[in-house]
Amino acid sequence: MRILMVCLGNICRSPMAEYVLRNLAREAGTASDVQVDSAATSRYQIGDTPHRGTRRVLAAHGIPCGEHRSRQMTRADYDHYDLIIGMDDENRSDILRIVGHDRNHKVRTLLDWTDHPRAIADPWYTGDFETTYADVRESCEALLAWIEEQVR
Ligand code: 4NP
Repeated sequence: MRILMVCLGNICRSPMAEYVLRNLAREAGTASDVQVDSAATSRYQIGDTPHRGTRRVLAAHGIPCGEHRSRQMTRADYDHYDLIIGMDDENRSDILRIVGHDRNHKVRTLLDWTDHPRAIADPWYTGDFETTYADVRESCEALLAWIEEQVR
């Protein structure tokens, strides 16, 4: 299953979700079931590496963080990926604006996979990367369990 994690800048939340989900799949021995990338809705940080706060929180939890560079998602991503997952409702409406009609119901928000759907707080504004990490981790665990139900 091909997953695109999406946020506003593609330097804080969506690369965090990309690396957390990839690492969970690797630990579970199911890495071959999931291909995960990330992208921005905006052009604000194109070409930039993940934010220092994201790199720090991933390192603190023993999760490898690669040399991802921010890119803006495109309409073509809609056909390539099975799921396009925003972090909040603003991401969701920006994604829909970019892709047009969501004819295959691919556009979701990450916390939809938990028991209490809400927005993932943006640490660019809150400065709190740990709270964002906790929500990303909880969602990615639930998402990976769901993916395994779909592909097995
Ligand atoms: P992200 O956070 O969407 O989680 O990557 C942000 C990063 C950059 C900006 C806003 C949010 N910005 O305005 O440049």
